[in-house]
Amino acid sequence: MPIVALDEAAAILAGGGLVAIPTETVYGLGAHALDPRAIAGIFALKGRPTWHPLILHTVGDVDEHALADDRARALAAAFWPGPLTLVLPRRAHVPDALTGGRPTVAIRSPAHPLARALLARLPLAAPSANRFGGVSPTRAEHVLGEFPGLAVVDGGPCAVGLESTIIDLSRPAAALLRPGGLPIAAIEAVIGPLGSPGDTAAPGTLAAHYAPRARVIPTSDPRIEAIKQRDAGYTVAIIHASEPVGYARRLYDSLRALDGVDVIVVEWAPPGGLGDAINDRLRRAAASGEPHGNS
Ligand code: TXA
Ligand code: MG
Repeated sequence: MPIVALDEAAAILAGGGLVAIPTETVYGLGAHALDPRAIAGIFALKGRPTWHPLILHTVGDVDEHALADDRARALAAAFWPGPLTLVLPRRAHVPDALTGGRPTVAIRSPAHPLARALLARLPLAAPSANRFGGVSPTRAEHVLGEFPGLAVVDGGPCAVGLESTIIDLSRPAAALLRPGGLPIAAIEAVIGPLGSPGDTAAPGTLAAHYAPRARVIPTSDPRIEAIKQRDAGYTVAIIHASEPVGYARRLYDSLRALDGVDVIVVEWAPPGGLGDAINDRLRRAAASGEPHGNS
């Protein structure tokens, strides 16, 4: 079964099952957003703690959630569908299972046409379709490699390749919770300067995350670092930076493809725009720490 067509995917989801879906950022592990039992299946399959809230994906009915918020309406008009997630006050029909019992809900309207075709039929909760703490999948094969037997809608390689940018609009000062596929400057051009998250930090923005099994070492000089690691007895692979759109698009695929060596040396992206999101992921992948080789 693993690769399924849209009608079959919609039937599985409507029945409370799980289907991996393509989005323009990364593949999501979808479940009916208003069905707590279906949502419980996501946490079980990913091995994710249930206090770690999920994003509600819709075709873009921000007005339903944010009639009172001008900033949400302006951002949705400018960037939806697209790689932007808005944290807003939660409404009563959103289940505790999705928000981890929080008073807020994260909402995103993805651009991928196959995701939109499904979302036209039902709203979906969808975290990235990988085991908790691992590298997000950007191709159907990545999902099937981790979850053989899971139903997957194959939408080809993801165009953006990094997760959505998350902005907290649940408090008076808008704050950046996670840099991502939509550059911060584009957002600030619409609603003005963003604050730092303070204590509303996205629970998912753990220091260690997005990590392959190999140890990740970001550096501005990959050749020198690679020689150092080889001399220390480790097997090493190198990922070189390229222009940011292409770098973002292939980063997770490269991390997965090279994950068999002891150490992956990765070149920092130039700062600014997508480079900030790339470097955020490299820092978190590196924070996973210990070299654990191939065992
Ligand atoms: O691009 C994306 O956003 C992908 C695709 C599949 O849409 N999804 C994704 O989901 O990256 P996930 O679950 O891997 O990351 C969602 C992040 C987590 O860090 C979570 O803590 C945060 O969003 N989040 C969800 N609800 C929140 C809320 N109410 N308040 C603050 N952070 C929230
Ligand atoms: Mg994730």
